[in-house]
Amino acid sequence: MCGIVAYIGKNKAKDLLLDGLKSLEYRGYDSAGIAVLDDSKIELIKSAGKIAKLEQKIAELRSPALVADSASSEFNSMLAERLSKAFETSSCGIGHTRWATHGIASDGNAHPHQDLEADIALVHNGIIKNYLSLKHELEQDGIEFRTETDTEVIAHLFSRARQQTESDLDALRQVMAKVEGSYALAILVKDQQKIILAKNQSPLVIGIGDGEHFVASDSSTVLQYTNKVLKLKDLQVAEVTAGQVKLEDINGNESKIEVCHSVQNNSILEKGPYKHFLVKEINEQPAVTSLMLDQCLANPAKPISGFEQLDIDFSQINRIVFVACGSAYHAALIGKYLIELWAKVPVEVAIASEYASKQVLVGESDLVLGISQSGETADTLAAVTNAKQAGAKVMAITNKSDSAIYDLVSPNAYVTPAGIEVSVASTKAFTSQVLSLYFLAIKIAEDRLNADLTEVKQALRSLPLVIDQVIERAEQYQNQFLKYSNYRDFLFLSRGVNYPIALEGALKLKELSYIHATGYPSGEMKHGPIAILDQNVPVLSIAIDGPTKFEHGIYERSLSNAEEARARKSPSLVIACDDNNDLDGVFDEIIRIPNIDQLLSPIIATIPLQFLAYYIAEDLGKDVDQPRNLAKSVTVE
Ligand code: AGP
Repeated sequence: MCGIVAYIGKNKAKDLLLDGLKSLEYRGYDSAGIAVLDDSKIELIKSAGKIAKLEQKIAELRSPALVADSASSEFNSMLAERLSKAFETSSCGIGHTRWATHGIASDGNAHPHQDLEADIALVHNGIIKNYLSLKHELEQDGIEFRTETDTEVIAHLFSRARQQTESDLDALRQVMAKVEGSYALAILVKDQQKIILAKNQSPLVIGIGDGEHFVASDSSTVLQYTNKVLKLKDLQVAEVTAGQVKLEDINGNESKIEVCHSVQNNSILEKGPYKHFLVKEINEQPAVTSLMLDQCLANPAKPISGFEQLDIDFSQINRIVFVACGSAYHAALIGKYLIELWAKVPVEVAIASEYASKQVLVGESDLVLGISQSGETADTLAAVTNAKQAGAKVMAITNKSDSAIYDLVSPNAYVTPAGIEVSVASTKAFTSQVLSLYFLAIKIAEDRLNADLTEVKQALRSLPLVIDQVIERAEQYQNQFLKYSNYRDFLFLSRGVNYPIALEGALKLKELSYIHATGYPSGEMKHGPIAILDQNVPVLSIAIDGPTKFEHGIYERSLSNAEEARARKSPSLVIACDDNNDLDGVFDEIIRIPNIDQLLSPIIATIPLQFLAYYIAEDLGKDVDQPRNLAKSVTVE
């Protein structure tokens, strides 16, 4: 979490820092700040809230209103003028957008942080695990802390180390020897035209320009300016000037500078005709699905393609373990269902944070597969690393080829072509993960059992059209869903292959509208959750009875469970196919989707639930694309 940027060169740093921060806002958006080097001093401004608020604060430095207001305070007006001049002229600075881990989102806790003398300013992404003991030591030495952050210890430690060493990189190494945890650091030093960097377990890249350097947590940020990217490795430090990068390892040895040439990305992501990125991304699902089918399933009569890069012999794999978080975990549950069904391989699904640090009993015939849209989720990376160290084969499904998980499992990654997902709540990335798991399950079944799944493959080809038909019903769904905006609790139920969709529907509603929602297997309701039911708790069931009735009884049993809820006076909603005529009078709200085989229905059934969360959140005036407390990329454990 948190995004950091830095710039040194010939252009105005402030503008580049703010633009860079905007492109990193997906990593956290509860406060932001920048610091620039101005002649001999470091000038800094920070603010709780989103980057737009910081921008406004900077603009106000020059506004006559502020100067007039502060006429009584000569000091304030001089300060505003000094800051404003520094931001207009400086070509060296650092910036940060925060997702709070230690300390509330406030101006004070926002980065950059400084030492007592204001000789340095630094921004940090990561967590210093032993900050409390370091803080106590520093306090005993008379240092008064001004923030509640873990980061402030680094500022004081670095400042002290500088007094005892000749070189700033040596001083930084001394700090690195003391701190435990993860960090990407960018530091400004008074009087010195340079930026100092360090990295451990948090991403940090340098974009190499012509007489200028751009630093960021994510290469997509620097790719707006240059196609030459240097990725720092763990425990490396760097000193960056406008014309040079000096890179060293933890022992002070010079490291080789390996620059990769990536495709430059000058495109600015736009919402187009849509009010929010979320609804734009919901609408992109037919195109993404279509692209994936063309890539992997162009000819249903032939074996599935798209996995040629993998160095895995599936006939030698005896067990698969999925590790993932959030929506990716729900996708994994669907993957388990399909792989066990078609390929007959036992599959476990683990919450990545639970798998990350336990003793895992795996060997070379086990495949541990991490699913992560961002490819940067710390819990998933830790879980895959744990499995790799224990001797398992590892693989990943990710939406980003330029990501830590891709590098960790290389060449065993399948990259979903969903494109950049801006909205924090996952929609098209989730459905692309689910579809990739259909492909993987078919691939394993074909490789191990020589299975003929032509019929399933043919049926999958119809998905883009059906998704389109669901999206066309958005307005109808909106009318149905808006009646439910004012409930405070929801229960989502389903069985079999759609049980994970009940979990996903509940997660979407929770994260977008802040309404409490829980997903359960329908059959489990009577074992406890039923106690909470009354007229204030709507129950939404997914009951798909497709034409081929893959598993007889699932639909009927889902209906009886819904009746049980209704008997407790719960308002009842159901997602069901057009042809199910036996639902009137049983449910208060019937949310229709086109007829679809139960086995293929998860991707289709999830779309009305995306709309449910969207319309309710909009109705309640919530921040749809950037819900409170969340971040798109969760890079802390
Ligand atoms: C989904 O809507 C969530 N924002 C979240 O649960 C997400 O799926 C989870 O954090 C995992 O992210 P990843 O796929 O990037 O690893």
